[in-house]
Amino acid sequence: MNYDKKSIADIDAQGKTLLVRCDFNVPQDEQGAITNDKRIVESLPTIRNLAERGAKLILCSHLGRPKGKFDMKYSLAPVAKRLSELLGKPCVMASDVVGEDAAAKAAALAPGDVMLLENVRFHAEEEKNDPAFAKKLASLAEIFVNDAFGSAHRAHASTAGVADYLPAVCGFLIQKEIGVMGKALNDPKRPFAAVLGGAKVSDKIGVINNLLEKCDTIIIGGAMAYTFIKALGKPIGASRCEEDKLTYALDMLAKAKEKGVKFLLPEDSLCADKFEADAKAQVFADIPDGLMGLDIGPKTVEKYSAELAGAGTVVWNGPMGVFEFPAFAEGTKAVARAIAASGAVSVIGGGDSAAAVEQLGFADKMTHISTGGGASLEFLEGLELPGIACLLDK
Ligand code: 3PG
Repeated sequence: MNYDKKSIADIDAQGKTLLVRCDFNVPQDEQGAITNDKRIVESLPTIRNLAERGAKLILCSHLGRPKGKFDMKYSLAPVAKRLSELLGKPCVMASDVVGEDAAAKAAALAPGDVMLLENVRFHAEEEKNDPAFAKKLASLAEIFVNDAFGSAHRAHASTAGVADYLPAVCGFLIQKEIGVMGKALNDPKRPFAAVLGGAKVSDKIGVINNLLEKCDTIIIGGAMAYTFIKALGKPIGASRCEEDKLTYALDMLAKAKEKGVKFLLPEDSLCADKFEADAKAQVFADIPDGLMGLDIGPKTVEKYSAELAGAGTVVWNGPMGVFEFPAFAEGTKAVARAIAASGAVSVIGGGDSAAAVEQLGFADKMTHISTGGGASLEFLEGLELPGIACLLDK
């Protein structure tokens, strides 16, 4: 896929009306308060730049999965409020997406003004990438700017469909994400290590396949490690395991050997008899019946930390254990610490890994933390992202 796309730096924005797709799909508490505004903060460079250059900005995004109906639980109003605070000027909120209110507010914009449409997923046509809906959305503006990296793996009306009707360029966030991750993947400072964790091997099949072609070392943690360990014939007790992926696991180990890629698996685990925060942690190399591995053990921490100390580039996706439980957070914390201390170019995939790095206090020590969960995973798999493929080439 060609990632050399035109950006907002390549357009004349003065006086133009721009439809800017952001990923404002932010976590909220039960009262609707935003609990992490990283995605809003990361969209500011594009919004500020365009507003300063005299563009009229119509922002749009989805929030949650409202299933094609107007449901105020998923309103973007709290995002407009937070955005106004961060921008230091009003972000006008429309009460609809392609209705009368949006059209009237868009027509009233002056150069430098910013407005936000309601949740694009209030229309079922959004996720269906319905051409008539995309056309209607596009009719509000003269140029489409996609800056929603977190949604770039979705071929929806507001992420890709509108590009059939408007000249389409990327914003600074997408440019940064594909620039940093693309360089890490395709021109890495070596040795290049990938740290892969999380619950399921099946979620990471594409990533492992792609990274085996590019990395010098692959380090495995999280529950997915137990599928590999079982495939090698070792006891894993009651640990999570995908029985239908045992052959795949062996194939991957063979492929790593053939390619000369170091493939590291845990040598010990922190185990417990239940999946609960107050479970008592015990260390085992061979996990006995009735116990399950919930984190990598101390010997593994030592081995992984030593390996990461010598890395030139590290890509990390997925925690090493159940870091939400303090008693099983040490493996993830130690890996974060080792990456931070290594001086390597460090790229953290979004979702759980980003949450872990932020929650454990290592965010400012990393080169790049992606705003994409599914999107960064698909990028690491080497897949084409529709929200980027649709943009104009340089
Ligand atoms: C995300 O949070 O990964 C993106 O905003 C995409 O959301 P979705 O999985 O609901 O499409």
